[in-house]
Amino acid sequence: MKLFKKEDKMSSLVTANCNLLPVINRFGIRLGFKEKTIAEICTEQDVNPDFFLAIVNTYTDENYFPEQELLSFSPLLLIDYLKNTHNYYIGYVLPKIERLLTKVMETCRDNCDSLKMISSFYKKYKTELLLHLKTEDEKVFPYIVNLYKNRNRQPDQKSIAEYEDEHTNVEEKLSDLKNLVIKYLDPNYDHNAMNEFLLALFQFEKDLYDHARIEDAILVQQVIMLEEEVKTKPAQ
Ligand SMILES: [Fe+2]
Ligand SMILES: [Fe+2]
Repeated sequence: MKLFKKEDKMSSLVTANCNLLPVINRFGIRLGFKEKTIAEICTEQDVNPDFFLAIVNTYTDENYFPEQELLSFSPLLLIDYLKNTHNYYIGYVLPKIERLLTKVMETCRDNCDSLKMISSFYKKYKTELLLHLKTEDEKVFPYIVNLYKNRNRQPDQKSIAEYEDEHTNVEEKLSDLKNLVIKYLDPNYDHNAMNEFLLALFQFEKDLYDHARIEDAILVQQVIMLEEEVKTKPAQ
C-alpha cells in the first residue's frame, strides 16, 4: 500500500481512507484543506509532520510500523496523541456504540435473550475499558511525564513493567464481542440497525489495535530505557 509523504495533499489522505479523519482530528487538524500539502498544514497547526505521517501511515497500512522512527519521538508527543485518542473513545465512540445498540434492541421481536446477553457483555466491557483508560490517564501517563521531565522516580513507584502486566488487552475483548454478534445472535431484530452497530465495533477494534500497538511497542519501550537511565544515574 502507498505510504503518504509530506508533499502529498492533505485532502488525498481523506479521499484514500476516510477512516483517517478522526485520526487527523486528534492532531487538531480539521476539514477545509484546500490544495495544501500535509507539510503546509502541519506547519500551520504546529504539528510535527514526521510524527503525523508515522501515525497516519501506521493506521493506513497494517504492515507498516516504523518502530525505530516512532521510538525517536518524545514520549510527551506520544502521550498527547494517546490522551486525545482516549477522549475520542470516551466522548464519542462509546456513546455512539451505545446509541446503536439501543436502536437494535428497540427493534427486537419475541425472544430477545441473546441480544440482552450481548448488551450485558457490552456493559461489562465498557466498565473494564473505562477503568483501563482512567488508569493510563491518571497513573501511567503522569508517571511517564515525571520520569521524562525530571529523570527521577519515587522508590515505591510502580515500574512500567508492573503497569504493563496489568495492561489488559481491551482490543481482544472487543473482538470477542464482535464474534458473539456474528456467530451466536438470534436474528430477530432489524438487520440494518444491527449492521450499523457491527460496523462501529469493527472500526473501534481497528482503532484500538493501533492504539495498543503504539502503547506496547513504543511508549513502554521508551519508558524501559528511561527507567534504566534513571537507575544508572549517580545519586546527587
Ligand atoms: Fe490507551
Ligand atoms: Fe492501553
